[in-house]
Amino acid sequence: MKIIIGSDHAGYPMKEKVKKFLISRGVEIEDVGTHSDASVDYPDYGRKVASKVSDGTYQRGILICGTGIGMSIVANRFEGVRATLTNDLFSAIMGRRHNDSNILVMGGRIVGDELAIKIVETWLSTPFEGGRHRLRLQKIDA
Ligand code: RB5
Repeated sequence: MKIIIGSDHAGYPMKEKVKKFLISRGVEIEDVGTHSDASVDYPDYGRKVASKVSDGTYQRGILICGTGIGMSIVANRFEGVRATLTNDLFSAIMGRRHNDSNILVMGGRIVGDELAIKIVETWLSTPFEGGRHRLRLQKIDA
C-alpha cells in the first residue's frame, strides 16, 4: 500500500519520524510537505492529502498538525474521506474497526514520538469490521 503524508510546520518533526518508520517498513510514500519548520497554513497541506484520498489516487493518508484538529476539519470536507483524530492507541484501533478511517490525523504537539509510531503501526494493521458499521458509514455518505 502506498501512503500520502503531509503536515504543517507544527507537525513537521513528527512527519519526518513517521516517514522514516514507514520507509524502514518498506511502505512507499508520497510526501506533500511541508519540508521545514517555517510557518505555513495547515489547510494547504490538508487539501493536498485529502484530495488525493478522495479521488482514489491513494487509499490511505496521514496528516499531522499541532493538535490534529485543524487537519481533521479540513480533511473531512472532502467526499469519501474519513479522517480520524487519533492521539491515543484506543482511537487508532476503533477508528479502523468502526470508522474505516482512511486518513490518520495526529497532533505533533500532543503525541510523543514513540506513541506516534505505535499509533501508525496499529492504524495500518487493524481491519475494518464492516457489518453494522458499514451501514452507518453509508448514512454519512448519504
Ligand atoms: C499551528 O500553530 C497550529 O494552529 C496548527 O498546527 C494546528 O494545531 C491547527 O489545528
